[in-house]
Amino acid sequence: MEYVNTEDLDIDLELGESRVDRLNSPIWDERSIHIFVKRDDLIHPIISGNKWRKLKFNVELCLNLKKNGILTFGGAYSNHLVATAAACQSAGITSIGIVRGDELNENSNETLKQCTSLGMKLVFISREEYALRNDREYHQKLGAEYRLMHLVPEGGANYYGIIGCQEIMQEINVEIDDVFIAQGTTTTSCGVLLSLKDHQRLHVIPVLKKFDSIGEMKSLLLKGGFDQEMTDDLLDQVIVHDDFHFGGYGKFPQDLLDFITNFHFEYKLKLDPIYTGKAMKCMISNLENDEFSGKSVLFIHTGGLQGGRGIVDFSE
Ligand SMILES: Cc1ncc(COP(=O)(O)O)c(C=O)c1O
Repeated sequence: MEYVNTEDLDIDLELGESRVDRLNSPIWDERSIHIFVKRDDLIHPIISGNKWRKLKFNVELCLNLKKNGILTFGGAYSNHLVATAAACQSAGITSIGIVRGDELNENSNETLKQCTSLGMKLVFISREEYALRNDREYHQKLGAEYRLMHLVPEGGANYYGIIGCQEIMQEINVEIDDVFIAQGTTTTSCGVLLSLKDHQRLHVIPVLKKFDSIGEMKSLLLKGGFDQEMTDDLLDQVIVHDDFHFGGYGKFPQDLLDFITNFHFEYKLKLDPIYTGKAMKCMISNLENDEFSGKSVLFIHTGGLQGGRGIVDFSE
């Protein structure tokens, strides 16, 4: 199955095909390396890449529980907020975005304007209050205040987000040895990890500096209810590349931007400077290592191209 399924959901969304593309280069051919790209960026222009994966079952749960809508969290430039607003509008439910920064308003930037135009109610809170966003007591307080809203953590990082991302590898019907994926909250990589075969390795590229990938993945999986021993066994299949953050979240030095434009010129594939550009640079650099000779490698394109608007120039 190569399509993301919405048949069982009462939601008015037209979704694109997340196909698997092949990247070719004589250098890789010589060493019998086969490179594939899972094109989740094609799923939807706004609810793109991993966004729909993380929201799908949260929307379903909200509809099944007959809640009024989804309440979630994000920074001023959060793609997750916009995607949630669009998904909720398509499902005919309301959305509330709790935004970091009480100096902001609905017109502060294009992301927030877009959320508002998609029907999301924005609530701006101080950075101190936002720091509490994952605290149990804070959730209880919000739950009481917004009783009929389904609360989804920042970045869709909950059990439902994880199991939505588990579907990515189930749609792959070529033999794969190694998978490369960008990491923020780790939700997407946790979902991918859960559906790996025993011999497959998952290469994660955190875009945050000094990020504890394994610790964060473990904590999210345990919070999601997954068994500790199984989680520990699965995490043995993960390889962390923590040297491709290019200075940290939201940092994109010129050499990264040059890589993204050259890559687009060569392979006609667009990457974003926050997540996928860094992950792809990591994969291409690592392929030079002998251990990849004769291997089949999959890059999961998690979308995010709207994040690169005005930063990367794809004109030729
Ligand atoms: C384009 C893109 N790729 C990767 C990620 C990282 O995903 P996760 O937060 O699930 O680790 C994000 C953040 O959601 C993203 O927007």
